[in-house]
Amino acid sequence: MKLAIGCDHAGYELKNEIIQYLKNFDGVEVEDHGTYSGDSVDYPDLALKVAEAVAFGDAERGIVICGTGIGISIAANKVPGIRAANCHDQYTAQMCREHNNANILAFGSRVITAQTAKELVKTFLETDFAGGRHQRRVDKITGIEQKYSK
Ligand code: RB5
Repeated sequence: MKLAIGCDHAGYELKNEIIQYLKNFDGVEVEDHGTYSGDSVDYPDLALKVAEAVAFGDAERGIVICGTGIGISIAANKVPGIRAANCHDQYTAQMCREHNNANILAFGSRVITAQTAKELVKTFLETDFAGGRHQRRVDKITGIEQKYSK
């Protein structure tokens, strides 16, 4: 699976740690969209890179990291086709896949520990969408997107 990853300055160190951690997963190819230092940047710019990689099919899924996970997930969700979930624990990481078919995992470097972040990543990668009634609901999300897209 090709996985796009990106962060702002607040997520820079955690992103590096997650990239190292992802080497434990067979078949996961990581595409690092930056940022590449701890210098201040604007999280929407990095969210857009990862979200476009996923929306255009260059990557199957993505991970975005900022201080809280809030700004970068809001920005990623503006790209049609993106369902970015800001998660804080294993349960939300599992549900975002099973119920919401999230294609981008977001989290905050100032909110969760690196250990928790690794657990979220593992769960996000290993959990399948449940489909069924959840497909209908995800289709309704797409419907909202289409209503407001020109
Ligand atoms: C940067 O200081 C911070 O605002 C950003 O990383 C993020 O938390 C925004 O939602």
